[in-house]
Amino acid sequence: MNMYKVIENRYVGEDMYLLRIEGKFEGKMGQFYMLRAWDKFPLLSRPISIHDIDENSISFLYKVVGEGTQILSKVKVSETIKLEGPYGNGYEKVQGKVALVGGGIGVAPLYLVAKNIENCDAYLGFRKEAILEEEYKEVCNEVHIAIGDKFVTDILDIEKYDYILACGPTPMMEKLVKMTEGTNTKIMVSLENHMACGVGACLVCTCKTQFGNKKTCKDGPVFWGEDVIF
Ligand code: FES
Repeated sequence: MNMYKVIENRYVGEDMYLLRIEGKFEGKMGQFYMLRAWDKFPLLSRPISIHDIDENSISFLYKVVGEGTQILSKVKVSETIKLEGPYGNGYEKVQGKVALVGGGIGVAPLYLVAKNIENCDAYLGFRKEAILEEEYKEVCNEVHIAIGDKFVTDILDIEKYDYILACGPTPMMEKLVKMTEGTNTKIMVSLENHMACGVGACLVCTCKTQFGNKKTCKDGPVFWGEDVIF
């Protein structure tokens, strides 16, 4: 794994941090990198979706959920971390009226999606506070926020859109897929299945689809909603 210099690693709210790394990187919307900011332990690198890419840097929005991400959150500017990728299949570049729907850390990949897709609105759900709202407003037509007891699925009129591109907790995506049934709206979902190797070798991330078991890390993480068996 190659080492790269951290140029930003700041807390943005809701236990999430924005990490920016210097360098020229590849990656499409919805793909992820494997990151590690430690030597031997924890054993596994962490799969984190691409939040943004520009000419000289790549950004990741991550949530502190365990030992690895805790260590990541302590990395300081100018220190180096290890990075490998991009991995996985991301969102297709659809055309039409598009809603990006994210819940919690699921909002992370949707920023790069918004930069690549014209004519999109965002529906973002959080527990207590909205994060990076201004940044999303810069790349979307409209940004709608749901907080606490209100869910993104409550504020979204699905039939207004040709495509829904979603990322978030499984119940949210299952509900969104159900909401599109019997409509002309198509949906792509990025699954958040637990991963270990990240490269298709361990089967930890297996998910069920209409076409049999698939590897979330290699065949996904993005799938057409109608293909996924929740
Ligand atoms: Fe190992 Fe997907 S994480 S096969």
